[in-house]
Amino acid sequence: MQRLITFALIFAFVSPCLCVDYNVIDFGAKGDGKTDDSQAFLRAWQSTCGAKEMATLVIPPNYQFLLTPLILKGPCQASNIHIQIKGKIVAPAKNKWISYYFSWILITNVNGLTVDGSEGSIHGLGDTWWSCKSCQRPSVITFNACNDLSVSYLNIVDSPRSHINVNGDDCIAISGNSSYVNVTGIACGPGHGISFTGTTNGARIKSFPNGPGYARAITFEQITLRKAGNPIIIDQFYYAPLTWGRVEVSGITFRDFSGTCAYDKAITLNCGAQGCFNITLDQINIVSSEGGKAVYCSGKNVHGIATSTNPTCSCLSS
Ligand SMILES: *[C@@H]1O[C@H](CO)[C@@H](O)[C@H](O)[C@H]1NC(C)=O
Ligand SMILES: *[C@@H]1O[C@H](CO)[C@@H](O)[C@H](O)[C@H]1NC(C)=O
Ligand SMILES: *[C@@H]1O[C@H](CO)[C@@H](O)[C@H](O)[C@H]1NC(C)=O
Repeated sequence: MQRLITFALIFAFVSPCLCVDYNVIDFGAKGDGKTDDSQAFLRAWQSTCGAKEMATLVIPPNYQFLLTPLILKGPCQASNIHIQIKGKIVAPAKNKWISYYFSWILITNVNGLTVDGSEGSIHGLGDTWWSCKSCQRPSVITFNACNDLSVSYLNIVDSPRSHINVNGDDCIAISGNSSYVNVTGIACGPGHGISFTGTTNGARIKSFPNGPGYARAITFEQITLRKAGNPIIIDQFYYAPLTWGRVEVSGITFRDFSGTCAYDKAITLNCGAQGCFNITLDQINIVSSEGGKAVYCSGKNVHGIATSTNPTCSCLSS
């Protein structure tokens, strides 16, 4: 009896919660790369989502799971859900898609979600889509209305369109109504984008001239660029040559940038007549990708300071 109590105590100590793993294989997934495993994933999801406390959806290694467009829906009973991607997930080729979906994988209304893709990979078969210029192409994964979301080490290969949407072809696009977003440890390119190898843009804030709202307190830090088109850019005239930008842009910091740009203009700070305020450039060193060629900074209606910035930005006023 004594022993049993001790055991129970130890057990309670090492296992403070009801944490349950739901492995897609146990729900009928084949993982042979040919069978559509979507229904098995959905069954595993139902159990994970309906668990009492913490639950983990396990996508095990050494398998290849073919998934047709999939929606993992909440709200969930489980207060914390992990999705562990250790295997390979593949999309059907374009000619196998029956109808258009905005996103191949959609995760919606799930709170307290952690997605860890460190050992696995997600293959969008984008090469079957890219040549079709008139096609509406899907994104790989979209998170919609997920509070307290953490996504790390996702390895996404060949997305037909954008890789990850959290709201809305960029490496990372942070669209309207987003706040407290922390994006760390990104390497991407070529493409449109944020570490940027051969991307159209590096750190960019763009707003439509008639758009409402604000972009405030945004820091871009420790960014390395290789041959980026616009390494640093604020553009309040996206898509229209008007003089007035309504989105208020303030408190933007670009710090610790290094690398090369493809053209002469390394830094663009193009603000509407009402101005952008409290813009900080610090420890910036961007040179031309063509050795020795001069690069410059250009801007208008921009207020703030530049320290240790190469090229110098004399357009910034206090
Ligand atoms: C932001 O949220 C408001 C209110 O819900 C909505 O009307 C608006 O369309 C959203 N804007 C964007 C860019 O998502
Ligand atoms: C963003 O996340 C990284 C990695 O978790 C962390 O080191 C950093 O402090 C965070 N930044 C902010 C502003 O929270
Ligand atoms: C400038 O912006 C930073 C955030 O990027 C903020 O912490 C600071 O308070 C702002 N300063 C003023 C005077 O608004």
